[in-house]
Amino acid sequence: MGHAVKVSQLSKVIKEKIIVDRISFTVEKGEVFGLLGANGSGKTTTFNMMSGLLAPSSGDVEVLGKSLRERKKSGGVPEVGMVTQQDSFYETLTVQENLEFFAGQFGIPEKVSRERISELLKQVKLTVKKDALASSLSGGMKKRLNMACSLVHDPIVVFLDEPTVGLDPVVRKEIWMLIKDLHKAGKTIIFTSHYMDEVEELCDKVAIMFAGRIVDSGTPEKLKKKHKLNQMEDVFAHLIKRGV
Ligand SMILES: Nc1ncnc2c1ncn2[C@@H]1O[C@H](COP(=O)(O)OP(=O)(O)OP(=O)(O)O)[C@@H](O)[C@H]1O
Ligand SMILES: [Mg+2]
Repeated sequence: MGHAVKVSQLSKVIKEKIIVDRISFTVEKGEVFGLLGANGSGKTTTFNMMSGLLAPSSGDVEVLGKSLRERKKSGGVPEVGMVTQQDSFYETLTVQENLEFFAGQFGIPEKVSRERISELLKQVKLTVKKDALASSLSGGMKKRLNMACSLVHDPIVVFLDEPTVGLDPVVRKEIWMLIKDLHKAGKTIIFTSHYMDEVEELCDKVAIMFAGRIVDSGTPEKLKKKHKLNQMEDVFAHLIKRGV
């Protein structure tokens, strides 16, 4: 099917500290890919470079066959949607107003955005809440709105940075359903997580980071077989310990 994202020898050095250390991996089109790692291993920094928010110190990222260096000249990576860990919508706007605001930010013409927003509201099950203030939503609804705001331009590749951290089990499952729906709709999905149950449930392939490096990658099945362990939880712990 071809690569959606190709990361080559990507590094980030901040104040002489190596945050990301020459990592390489590829994500195929239509795949759900998990970038896993303990706190501080460099996942968010990698994501920020992959989505064009942060300039790499060296190496490159290709998104849909076009390198970020080339893309810099043409103004960003419109095929990517980045769902950040912190909510990025405005509490004082309604659900609909938030989506209209983000559609405007992405430069979507009003005619197109009206239909897109209505479709998206259905997808994230917030149609009945479209005129409610964002501040009045439940935790799960807020998470779904946060996702919708980053998907309003219908990106081909979706990045989610720890989409379920700190959520209760019901809301986590709602987010899983949404990720599965996006996958079914043909999107390429790349997300970070600490939760191995989530990884087993959702990921076709994973890469495990430790201290800025990728210590192993592959399908969960392949990794379990390779390390002779039955659970991804144990594979993760084994690789992190070995990486120390
Ligand atoms: N702008 C910065 N200046 C200095 N250090 C930074 C900067 N950005 C990140 N770091 C450091 O780089 C390391 C990796 O950070 P990053 O946020 O990428 O990790 P992470 O894997 O996303 O962690 P978490 O699981 O906690 O979200 C951390 O030690 C962090 O303190
Ligand atoms: Mg992070």
